[in-house]
Amino acid sequence: MQISFVAPSNAAAGGAWIVGAAEGGRLLPAAIGADKASGGALTRALKFSRFTGKSGQMLEVLAPAGVKVSRLLLVGLGKAETLDEKGLETLGAQIVSRLYASGETVARFEIDVPKSSKVKKAELAAHLAFGAKLKSYAFDKYRTRNLDQYEKKLKTIRIVTPDVAAAKKAHAGLAAVADGIFLARDLVNEPPNVLYPAEFARRAKAQLSRLGVKVEILGEAEMKKRGLGALLGVGQGSARESQLVVMQWNGGPSSKKKKEAKPVAFVGKGVCFDSGGLSIKVGAGMQGMKGDMAGAACVTGTLMALATRKAKVNAVGVIGLVENMPDGGAFRPDDVLTSLSGQTIEVLNTDAEGRLVLADALTYTQRRFKPKMLIDLATLTGAIVQTLGTEHAGIFSNDDQLVQRVQAAGRYTGERVWQLPLDPFYDKMIRSKIADMKNIGGGNSGAITAAQFLLRFIEKGTVWAHLDIAGVAWQDGEQKPTIPSWGTGWGVRLLNRLMKEYYEN
Ligand code: BES
Ligand code: MN
Ligand code: ZN
Repeated sequence: MQISFVAPSNAAAGGAWIVGAAEGGRLLPAAIGADKASGGALTRALKFSRFTGKSGQMLEVLAPAGVKVSRLLLVGLGKAETLDEKGLETLGAQIVSRLYASGETVARFEIDVPKSSKVKKAELAAHLAFGAKLKSYAFDKYRTRNLDQYEKKLKTIRIVTPDVAAAKKAHAGLAAVADGIFLARDLVNEPPNVLYPAEFARRAKAQLSRLGVKVEILGEAEMKKRGLGALLGVGQGSARESQLVVMQWNGGPSSKKKKEAKPVAFVGKGVCFDSGGLSIKVGAGMQGMKGDMAGAACVTGTLMALATRKAKVNAVGVIGLVENMPDGGAFRPDDVLTSLSGQTIEVLNTDAEGRLVLADALTYTQRRFKPKMLIDLATLTGAIVQTLGTEHAGIFSNDDQLVQRVQAAGRYTGERVWQLPLDPFYDKMIRSKIADMKNIGGGNSGAITAAQFLLRFIEKGTVWAHLDIAGVAWQDGEQKPTIPSWGTGWGVRLLNRLMKEYYEN
């Protein structure tokens, strides 16, 4: 889909003409213009409709007389005071959705900022464009039939804005984020016979190195030499080789200024398929486990967004890529693994594998990069889905300021997080009879014991947060206009916002 910004002087011609109304149904300037040009088509149609200008409401007039357009679409912006970036993105997506249904090919958005709204004109244009773009995502590469049924006919959107240059500038950063989100969604949506660890690593390198990200790939031999015994244990039962991918974006201060140059770090769980291993899942529970690499996908997408918009920040992404399978060489319940940190882990359930992968990825990241802040993302537990469902990710952290920052970023982007506790009480639940710890708590509070497990791999002084994204990384059906069915790309927007607000200079 082509999205461009144009000055108001270009008159509407062909395609759909989208104009706005504030809550109460009051037409905004461009809508008044469209109404006049069409001999009052909008005001007439309003009389016969329930349109009141509420956010997302639409009123469509087909083939209006007097104007050279296929349709006029009046959209409600809701209350001016509560209109924000997130709401504009939703609106952009809703409009596109409507035009997809109509089969429209070209659209001109001419939506004014309502009086008493604090949104800037360029921001309005840019966020409408971002929402429209997010809606255009599709994953149809494996369909061979009825392609016309899936084709999205809307190919061109022109967004009218008084300051084209400012809108373009505001949009550039968002377009970079959309690229990162689309990459993350693609990675999550790919089937596991196609996207196994080495293929994920190959794609990460292919996509990111052209943007100036340094990408290193460690295979099993290198990991064995270094002692990543926990991660390797998980991958042992798979015919596919495990991988550790290290991605570095150095857009911030150079390493001469030691302290400021310290990077932020993102660590992702990348289980390309989670069968449960020998503690095998039941059929229904295994469906969708191609998405168990969503944490890694988010980290990769975030690095893409940061590099594409040349963010002034030093960021590293480390992802542990494995496949959890149950062959004759697989790790067993009762095995004891020695992690990179030196701590030993008694495996009592091979389906609690994500924490094992993360343990070594966390140690590796801290030892090598000494990050000033570390966030891991993982589809870690079914328990978090039980607890928070699909509306919030769980956040666990040793630093309240970081929690507040992540929460604020999530409120802005619509990717909300909810804090759950860490406490020595829960830590006791992972004591092992023979090793330093076991990999399951057994019984209740499964999301918390998983986080406690990770905390044991956080070194003194590391500011850290763990996001359990098992409930938000994929979804069935479209619950929000900007988010498609299945891979959501959750977290790319949030981490990007977090960087922009708090970590870039
Ligand atoms: N990948 C799963 C968690 C998961 C479940 C993600 C449902 C998305 C949807 C994870 O590896 C897992 O299997 N966790 C187990 C842990 C248990 C064995 C302690 C779980 O949550 O059941
Ligand atoms: Mn599992
Ligand atoms: Zn898993």
